[in-house]
Amino acid sequence: MERQQLNIGLFGFGCVGEGLYQVLERTPTLKASIRKICIKHPDKKRSITSEIFTTEAPSLLNDPNINVIVELIDDSEAAFVIVKAALLAGKPVVSANKKMLAEHFEELMFLQEQTGCQVLYEAACCASIPLIRNLEEYYDNDLLGGIEGIVNGSTNYILDQMDVRGISFAEALREAQAAGYAESNPALDIEGIDARNKLLILIVHGFGHVLQTSQIFYAGIHKIEAADQAFAKEKGYKIKLLARAAKLANGNLYALVCPSFVPLNSRLAQVGEAYNAVNLQSSFSESQFFLGKGAGAFPTASAVLSDLSALSYGYRYEYRKAGQAVVLANEAELILRIYWRTNGDTQRSALYFQNVEQVFIGQTQGFIIGEISLKNLKLLQSNFRESSFVLVDVLEENKTVFIQDLSLVETLTST
Ligand code: HSE
Repeated sequence: MERQQLNIGLFGFGCVGEGLYQVLERTPTLKASIRKICIKHPDKKRSITSEIFTTEAPSLLNDPNINVIVELIDDSEAAFVIVKAALLAGKPVVSANKKMLAEHFEELMFLQEQTGCQVLYEAACCASIPLIRNLEEYYDNDLLGGIEGIVNGSTNYILDQMDVRGISFAEALREAQAAGYAESNPALDIEGIDARNKLLILIVHGFGHVLQTSQIFYAGIHKIEAADQAFAKEKGYKIKLLARAAKLANGNLYALVCPSFVPLNSRLAQVGEAYNAVNLQSSFSESQFFLGKGAGAFPTASAVLSDLSALSYGYRYEYRKAGQAVVLANEAELILRIYWRTNGDTQRSALYFQNVEQVFIGQTQGFIIGEISLKNLKLLQSNFRESSFVLVDVLEENKTVFIQDLSLVETLTST
């Protein structure tokens, strides 16, 4: 198929927008050029000539010479307005805005169907790792059993640097911001919301179900302390923020984002800095492990470039699994084994557990390791806001569902 010449209208010239500009300069084989760039702050000093900039969105959306819109702005609601207008104007869109996608997924699917114009968004999940197209093309069947991985670069960077260099959470976050990994509102990263948004997108392509954001349980790393990491290390683990979606034996799906223990000798534990890594579990091939840069200007721009290249051949997502009947696991029946760190309220916290395996009560802090339903974990979290938890594993009929092993609990009970 002949490649179409792409004349790009770009929204946003921040970290990723500028990265894309530079990547396109160095990619002459792709017939693509940026015609206009719409920005919010015209007075900000820019690295390139000013004629290309405008503050008027319609001058891109209504320009008949522009045949693709690339949306790389920060504000997810403003981004949705732009994407909707572009599709209705007959222009396909490339976006990296995971928040916009997660919050408007059904509308965006409808708009694509209604207008016949596509939206591509490989950069929205794990930046440089080609996950969405993999789920779309390779896993367009029933083989996929689970998705598990590190899908937020900033939080991986923070946990890694606290662990390896012994720096504080605040300092590591500052570094993640300076490197261009973090969202402009870093609460989205550290509270697990960005990972939740990415997991929602991966579930659409992996399992065919468009969840509401409120249906995915998430917890962040903002309450993880050096002491929790030291505890993990002593027992042979690292703490990583993992996103997981997997089918239980009864066919129901569970979806979680939370700090999790991963064995020190596992591949996920080796993932440092702002790298992302995802394990896809499949019925016959067991697991596939994807590793790559998950944040930053160039890794994200490279995924946008790949979408532009795919678009020049007319590629679109087929959403082949969409509409499959997927039932979410019941929160009262989904049993998690967790490490719950308490602040002087250990005995009352223990009441929420269905099975307590170990309790430690110290002078100011304590911990519980045990089994708890997702429903009770939510109650526990809302009643003891200062405490934090780390997932050990997910249980089904007292068996481990995913890849963790049980040695943490065995080690603890034998000490
Ligand atoms: N803030 C995001 C992260 C950027 O840290 O992963 C890439 O999506």
